[in-house]
Amino acid sequence: MQLTLRRGSGVPLYRQVADQIRALVRSGALPAGGRLPTVRRLAADLGLTRLTVQSAYADLQAQGLIESFVGRGTFVATRSPALPAVSVPNAPQAPLSWISQGDFAELGRLTDGPSLLSLAHAVPAPETYPGRELGRALRAALDDPAALSYGPMQGEVALRDQMSRLLLDRGIAVAPDGVVITSGAQQGIDLILRTLAAPDEVVLIEEPTYPGAIELAARRGQRLVGIPRDADGLSLAALEAACRLYHPRLLYLVPAFHNPTGASLSAEQQQGLLRLATAHDLLLIEDDVYGLLAYDAPAPAPLRAIVDAARIVYITSFSKVLAPGLRLGAVVAPAEYVPLLVAARHSNDLISSPLLQRALADYLARGSLHAHLQAVRQLYRERRDAMLSALERFLPDCDWTTPGGGLNVWVRLPPGVSERDFCLAAIARGVAVAPGKAFFARPRDRASMRLSFGAHPPQQITRAIALLGAILHDEQRGRTEALARAGREAHPLV
Ligand SMILES: Cc1ncc(COP(=O)(O)O)c(C=O)c1O
Repeated sequence: MQLTLRRGSGVPLYRQVADQIRALVRSGALPAGGRLPTVRRLAADLGLTRLTVQSAYADLQAQGLIESFVGRGTFVATRSPALPAVSVPNAPQAPLSWISQGDFAELGRLTDGPSLLSLAHAVPAPETYPGRELGRALRAALDDPAALSYGPMQGEVALRDQMSRLLLDRGIAVAPDGVVITSGAQQGIDLILRTLAAPDEVVLIEEPTYPGAIELAARRGQRLVGIPRDADGLSLAALEAACRLYHPRLLYLVPAFHNPTGASLSAEQQQGLLRLATAHDLLLIEDDVYGLLAYDAPAPAPLRAIVDAARIVYITSFSKVLAPGLRLGAVVAPAEYVPLLVAARHSNDLISSPLLQRALADYLARGSLHAHLQAVRQLYRERRDAMLSALERFLPDCDWTTPGGGLNVWVRLPPGVSERDFCLAAIARGVAVAPGKAFFARPRDRASMRLSFGAHPPQQITRAIALLGAILHDEQRGRTEALARAGREAHPLV
């Protein structure tokens, strides 16, 4: 077994050993049932103390990846631990009338349609896409034939350099070498889940959370454990309980302008979370795709800016702040993980387009993003305010979040309302919303929906929410009448 240790890298040695064995198990290089070296042997081979190797083995054992038998030795586990995976249908399905738990693609099928006014997608306003500037940058990039060739696996140097500067705006100091360019944040999440977690490992998520992360983990067979998150933040008590029960290694979260609630963790919550992460040796996957879209006050600092860099894998992208069709994002990971992520990316789709990367780097080098951000923040603030006033006016029986940034408002429908009936009725009448179900790994009782305000002007947002109000009103009247009828038809028990 070939393991390489980087002393002084900031990542504890036992963690380095555990990570590399995990990667070998995941790749099949260490097959199920395969024997691992004894603690004594591995410690001697690597020049480590036995305690360090024992800690690595204990970590892997707690995750159900290896098993130890007294007198026989330590083996790669052959059985999976008890918690069931979220099941996701494998084959594409015919158009469905409703969505399955954990199937992100179905959400698209349900809510996309040329005639729908869609509040279902967290997308920027198309009229803000900087087509002219990017056009110029693309033409300039084409002067160098390298733009149409294969480029560096980790991403174009010019773009990594610009990312390193841009991240300073979020308080993150990282050299270009620590940045991996990805095809959007989605690929960043995928690479991390493929590289740093075993196929059947427990992965902690916030609930509700971004459905794309639920689906990725579920499709790999990873077992999702949800930690409640609402407008008040993340339940640290539930997180602590989950850490004690499952000894997880990864928590995926969106601390700033969370999808779907739009809420951000307070400084106090961040500190509590970081304390728990340290105590339970959790690696935090911080998804910060909305971090640059703050409307009222400066955005909260990302966790990556306030804690030991070895504890965070940070993800960002240009999809929400600029244009999702660029398909460009980045992961900032501890140095240990960079080669693993790059190799995983390479085996997936080799590289992101050098042409687009160079054009984006040029756009950023000209400082164009700052002006763009100023304009879109103003625009989205107006749209958010229009949505909040319309909710007040047309859906007073619901409760909702008041996001300070991002693109989403989370709305809870009154108790007793069927989420399925409500969302399908809205779609039938021309307004698409994202059903709450999509944001949970497991079924929940209370009906909810995510409304995204980025893509439509205030009048359209108001019109869409007025229609949702009318549907809810009809639904509630229908239910009251049905109850009254049932009351009239009931005979007293004598
Ligand atoms: C929290 C979060 N992460 C990741 C993504 C995917 O982003 P990208 O388009 O950069 O892949 C989204 C898109 O909605 C998101 O809301």
